[in-house]
Amino acid sequence: MNGFQLQLIGVVFTALAFLAATIAATCAYSIFKVVTADGDGGKEAPVQALKAPEETASEVTGVIPPVRVEPPFAAPTVGNVTLKEWLIHRTQRDNVWNEFVEDFYAKAASNYRVRPYFIGKPMNEIKRKFLATLLIVTDKGVDERAAKTLVERHAHLGITGEAYDSTMGALEETLEQYQVPENTIAQMVPLINYFGEHMVTK
Ligand code: HEM
Repeated sequence: MNGFQLQLIGVVFTALAFLAATIAATCAYSIFKVVTADGDGGKEAPVQALKAPEETASEVTGVIPPVRVEPPFAAPTVGNVTLKEWLIHRTQRDNVWNEFVEDFYAKAASNYRVRPYFIGKPMNEIKRKFLATLLIVTDKGVDERAAKTLVERHAHLGITGEAYDSTMGALEETLEQYQVPENTIAQMVPLINYFGEHMVTK
């Protein structure tokens, strides 16, 4: 082997070594990219999820109906009958709602937080108006105008959150006393929450 041949072999080896180094570096870089992309992927996923579709799970699946928190509120029902009709049928008493109102006011007024609001007020007139309202709420529901009027009629009273909750507690107890099913009482929760938000002024 002469000097030229030896030089040629040296050049070929150097070129091969360079090629091998380049391949190794490229591979190492690719592996590094995959690993870091995986790590970042974990962090970015929630951001993508937040930006994702505007529909809620219930709209997609249709399983949980959206809860209405503004009027109109539909009348509560038992099966396919309105609560008003259901109670009259169950008890076979046309004036059962008058009795209901008497029981409700007795319970509400027995509470020290609620009683003061009614001192010196024309109770028979209030009961009569409350009965009329209750018969509409439990048979036709509450539209926007009726809800607004009811809120306005209570604006001057300075009702506190505690007084409101106690009054609604008395209402719930009375509904239970008349064996109104749990599920029907639950249908009234959005309406009770709505009035709570707007009637409580103190
Ligand atoms: C969803 C809940 C309620 C309904 C549907 C309701 C219904 C009524 C109705 C129909 C009237 C007669 C309004 C009129 O004069 O035209 C009335 C008056 C009255 N309500 Fe309520 N009420 C509710 C909650 C409350 C609460 C929480 C309180 C007090 C703690 C309260 C205290 C009174 C008082 C004191 C009056 C007489 C107002 C006056 O004449 O100055 N009500 N309510």
